[in-house]
Order: sequence, then C-alpha cells, then structure tokens
Amino acid sequence: MNLQRLDKIISSQFNMSRSIARKVIRYGRVTVGDSVVHDPAFSVDPENAEISFRGQALEFKEHIYILLNKPKGVLSASEDKKRQTVVDLVPEKLKRNGLFPVGRLDRDTTGLLIITDDGDFAHNVLSPKKEIFKTYKVTLDGNVTEDIIKSFSAGITLADGTACRPAKLKALEENIAEIKICEGRYHQIKRMFGTVGLGVNELERTALGGLKLPENLAFGDCRELSKEELECIFVN
Ligand code: URA
Repeated sequence: MNLQRLDKIISSQFNMSRSIARKVIRYGRVTVGDSVVHDPAFSVDPENAEISFRGQALEFKEHIYILLNKPKGVLSASEDKKRQTVVDLVPEKLKRNGLFPVGRLDRDTTGLLIITDDGDFAHNVLSPKKEIFKTYKVTLDGNVTEDIIKSFSAGITLADGTACRPAKLKALEENIAEIKICEGRYHQIKRMFGTVGLGVNELERTALGGLKLPENLAFGDCRELSKEELECIFVN
C-alpha cells in the first residue's frame, strides 16, 4: 500500500499548488469513496481509492510522459520569463507540477521531445552509458562523404578537444543525412559537422531509441505516450 496525503495527491494530479489543493479540500470539493473529506492530511492509497475532485474522477498516474513535436523558436526549458518554452505547449489536460523536457533541443531544432515529471526516467534516457541512440535528420550545406562516415563511426574529437562516442552516419539524399548519437552535448551535432567543414541548415530529431516521431503529430502538438511506446525507447 502506498499511502499519501490527500493534498499531495490533488496537487500533483490536477496541476495546482499544495496550498490551493489544501483549500479545495477544506471547501469540500474532494471526495474519497462516497465521503467528502475536509482534512488535507487525510492518508489514502491513490492507486486503489476512488478519489474525485469537483465530481471528476481521478485516474491516478504517478508520472506522466508526453511526446511533443517541437517546433522552431521554442526553448527547451520548463519556464522562462520572456520566451515560450516547450512546457508552455503542454495542453491544460496534461499539465502537472514539475514538468521538464528530457534533454534539450536547440531553439532552431525541431522534432521528438519528451516532457515528463519523472527524473529517474530522464536520467535513464539521457545517460550515455545506457546507449540509447537519438536519431536526427540533418540538412547540410554540403555532402557527406565515405571518409566523414568513417571518422564519425570511429568517434571524432570536437574543436575544444572533447572526444565523442562513435556516431552512426548515413547519407539519405543530396545534402541530407541521418545521424544517430548516444550522448547529448551542447550543440553536439552542429559541432560534429563543424569539425569536417559542414554547416547544419536544418536539424530534426526523428527518433529516440526505438520510438519514432509519429508522422501525424503536427509541430507544436503533444500527446501522452502509451506504456508500449515508452518501452520502445529502450529498444534501439
Ligand atoms: N545537436 C545539436 O547541435 N543541436 C540539437 O538541438 C541537438 C543535437
């Protein structure tokens, strides 16, 4: 049994602060089973109890995993005073406290980004030791040669001396390539191509491990990931 305080449950599941959660409970807006509970400290097992807020039944989820097709111009951050962030794009029905993006895409990079409130999950996805490859479609200002493919697969060294792990690179069509990396250093792909004299014009993340960016998810749209989709991430 996983007993939790009622105010903690209401706050985490309905995207409200702890103090607002305490107020709505005291005002009698929350029921457990058939009874209105006025005590914010009331302990309950959220996985098994029937909890409702303003008549809306709670479908308890410890964590949430949201897939976003990141558009250009949006910051990979939880909040920012001036600029729009990826968390601002999450629709109200999926909003929760503590949401953050799993890793960062540059402002001008598009594509697959996961937003969650699960720190352990993010650590597992991002740790280079787990070797989860991130796949990108990259539009360059020149062509990828066999020599570049070989040097990327051996592991290149960035201009500042940082050694990169082996990357899988393949030419798709003129000036367009696919690259898979299992680490996420600052501007890593742009800097990798910089070492071989190629500039990156467009960058899109198309997959994370075995999870592909769905073709029907428009830029800026979000949806919750299923358990099966989450498992796909860990199968490269
Ligand atoms: N590498 C980059 O250079 N930019 C990104 O957004 C992601 C990987």
